Amino acid sequence: MARLVLLPLFSALLLATAITTSEAFSKTVKAPFPHKPEMLTHLRFYFHDIVSGAKPTTAKVAAGPNTNTSTTGFGLVVVIDDPLTVGPEITSEEVGRAQGMYASADQKSVGLLMAFNLVFTKGKFAGSTASLYGRNQIMSKVREMPIIGGTGAFRFGRGYAQARTFKFNTTSGDAVVEYNVFIWH
Ligand SMILES: *[C@@H]1O[C@H](CO)[C@@H](O)[C@H](O)[C@H]1NC(C)=O
Ligand SMILES: *[C@@H]1O[C@H](CO)[C@@H](O)[C@H](O)[C@H]1NC(C)=O
Repeated sequence: MARLVLLPLFSALLLATAITTSEAFSKTVKAPFPHKPEMLTHLRFYFHDIVSGAKPTTAKVAAGPNTNTSTTGFGLVVVIDDPLTVGPEITSEEVGRAQGMYASADQKSVGLLMAFNLVFTKGKFAGSTASLYGRNQIMSKVREMPIIGGTGAFRFGRGYAQARTFKFNTTSGDAVVEYNVFIWH
């Protein structure tokens, strides 16, 4: 008898929970802050892609069956934790890291898919990140890639990065690349 009484009560509770959950799924309100973006930040730093030596900042994690014979290294996937410094020397002050990956994604010319977070560690942007996702034709003088978002100071951010190779060691494969990043946030 008690079971018969409790059963509908239990079902009603389940239903109530289901309704609460679906109501919490989304909520749209008028933005409680002024129109964004309102700032434009220009960041300039050097990106060190260290593939050789005892302390590389990159890890080759995958390659395709034809990567070795491909003239563009098609299929190569590399995970990076590359230092970002104020000046071109590795001993220059580090302001952040580029953490993520790049992949060789073009079969005709060398073209990388870059997908990484710029993780800032110094100054007023320490703790903020900006996400870069784009195509990098490394043989071109200037490569432009989108900044598709960010966190902290760069919340709601968008913009672009321009990369210029500063130094490339053909023996070791290590590269130093100048980045100019413009973020609207
Ligand atoms: C590609 O070359 C690397 C280094 O020479 C070798 O370790 C790897 O087994 C090769 N991969 C294939 C699929 O042939
Ligand atoms: C290039 O890399 C090789 C091998 O690591 C090194 O011996 C050489 O000094 C480097 N060259 C320059 C200009 O840094």
